Amino acid sequence: MALLPILQYPDPRLHKVAAPVTEVDAGVRQLVDDMLETMYQSDGVGLAATQVDVHRRILVMDTSEQRDQPRVLINPELIQVSEEMMLGEEGCLSVPTIYDAVPRHARVTVRALGRDGQPFEFDAEGLTAVCVQHEMDHLLGKVFVEYLSPLKRERIKTKMLKKARDEQKRQ
Ligand code: NI
Repeated sequence: MALLPILQYPDPRLHKVAAPVTEVDAGVRQLVDDMLETMYQSDGVGLAATQVDVHRRILVMDTSEQRDQPRVLINPELIQVSEEMMLGEEGCLSVPTIYDAVPRHARVTVRALGRDGQPFEFDAEGLTAVCVQHEMDHLLGKVFVEYLSPLKRERIKTKMLKKARDEQKRQ
């Protein structure tokens, strides 16, 4: 397994649209294993392939308290969403230290292929529902800060670019 570098907002590659996976082969399984390792190492609850610069419809997540229930979703689809919306505080490994509230469906039903290539479905609510919607947005090239006001987004962009410059200076 290997740790993968995570693209940092406002990297334009975060806005690429991911293509469906046509076959869950050894390469895809290797990628999901690396993505899980990267997600756990970074203390994230979810990671989309887009964030590691692989533009295929793959995401991993683990919203359990014990961090021992990894989920792999390949070609995920929302087959049902609640009308009821919720606002939860979101963060993102591509936008570290920034947290803000985004409106999401309170409950969703998800269909995807697992690491074994077999289809499965599950119902999600709360943090898990938020996480699925956040990660699926990444696969469409959308980062959660795009739900915020233009002013907030500009501030975040400026902060992230300054951070990247400071890190470069230190190297
Ligand atoms: Ni994210």
